[in-house]
Amino acid sequence: MMDFPILDTTVYNHPLVYLDNAATTQKPRQVIDALTNYYLTLNSNIHRGAHYLAARATERYEEVRRQVQQFINARSSSEIVFTRGTTESINLVASSFGQGLREYDEVIVSGMEHHSNIVPWQLACERAGARLKVIPFSDEGVLDLQVYESLFTKRTRMVACCHVSNTLGTVNPVKEIVAMAHAHGVPVLIDGAQAVAHMPVDVQALGCDFYCFSGHKMYAPMGVGVMYGREEILGQLPPYQGGGEMIKDVTFERTTYNELPFRFEAGTPSVGDVLGLGAAIDFMKEQGIESIARHEEELLHYAMKQLKEVPGMRFFGTAPHKAGVVSFLLGNAHPYDVGTLLDKLGIAVRTGHHCTQPVMDRYGIPGTVRASFACYTKRDDIDALVNALNRIAPMLD
Ligand SMILES: Cc1ncc(COP(=O)(O)O)c(C=O)c1O
Repeated sequence: MMDFPILDTTVYNHPLVYLDNAATTQKPRQVIDALTNYYLTLNSNIHRGAHYLAARATERYEEVRRQVQQFINARSSSEIVFTRGTTESINLVASSFGQGLREYDEVIVSGMEHHSNIVPWQLACERAGARLKVIPFSDEGVLDLQVYESLFTKRTRMVACCHVSNTLGTVNPVKEIVAMAHAHGVPVLIDGAQAVAHMPVDVQALGCDFYCFSGHKMYAPMGVGVMYGREEILGQLPPYQGGGEMIKDVTFERTTYNELPFRFEAGTPSVGDVLGLGAAIDFMKEQGIESIARHEEELLHYAMKQLKEVPGMRFFGTAPHKAGVVSFLLGNAHPYDVGTLLDKLGIAVRTGHHCTQPVMDRYGIPGTVRASFACYTKRDDIDALVNALNRIAPMLD
């Protein structure tokens, strides 16, 4: 059942057209119910209580871990670590793996990363005296794999790259990127924030060492995310945060750490949000991830065909393999002005640099207007966007 109560909202006397899905998706009824039911019937702290509620909540929490394992086809549920979101997942890896970085080591990132896949690596590099190298991309928004290959040296320690760019929509050839790094003995972290809600993800097929994503971009509540780490590499990493649950024994002299994945889950987690993530996975499976992907691809073609006809449109990100993200500028208008006028017509888009300032610098622009799709986006929503842009284009001249 596809029931998203918030989509019935009226905005300035217009029906809401929600095209800001890359920022966060709306939540289906099942997810809202899962969250509410947790607080109505199950709320208790997990893993530590001897009582009924604690046992039931722990069971459900661990069930969702297995659901996530299956969802991304990880080999074992101990490879699934719950975090607060992609940002925390990447910070976990960058600070924990980063402890092994040494002076003159190198980390490769792509030029189209979200700040959350740049800054944690910069911090880790600064601490170690290591340096960041960047894979460039073409005007269309395609990574240059020849240059990528040339960036590897004996000092390369990690590659961090997004599966799908949140600004350009490019779907990167992750399997190839991973294989090339592995040929040099270098592990790879994939930022899957913009992928998991839009296409099937199989971490074993991709071969990546880490895969990070946020629940809230895949119909789940805010406050939960996932860090997948291949067991062989995760097992060797030092802890990230210290606290309850991540330990085996603590004395003032010495602490021994818990087994995977608990070693990386210090403190009380967001149990309700994790259960919401489970409901979101159920929802996506019910819809069929392949059919969500097909639907969004079809919408992208439908949208591009019409948007190209709007006078003054310039697109950023026109790679052959793209997800449902359209970044554009309208004439010489500032993206914020376009966004504000669209908002007055009930259309929610995002404007600005989308936390990818280096992408903006690459094109020499301050920002873009971004429309992004989800499983509930309809052709009518695209029509509304196109009509609105046609209406406001003359006003902005
Ligand atoms: C590609 C990408 N990576 C990382 C993030 C950060 O996600 P979060 O804010 O949920 O931690 C985002 C969010 O927009 C994103 O689009």
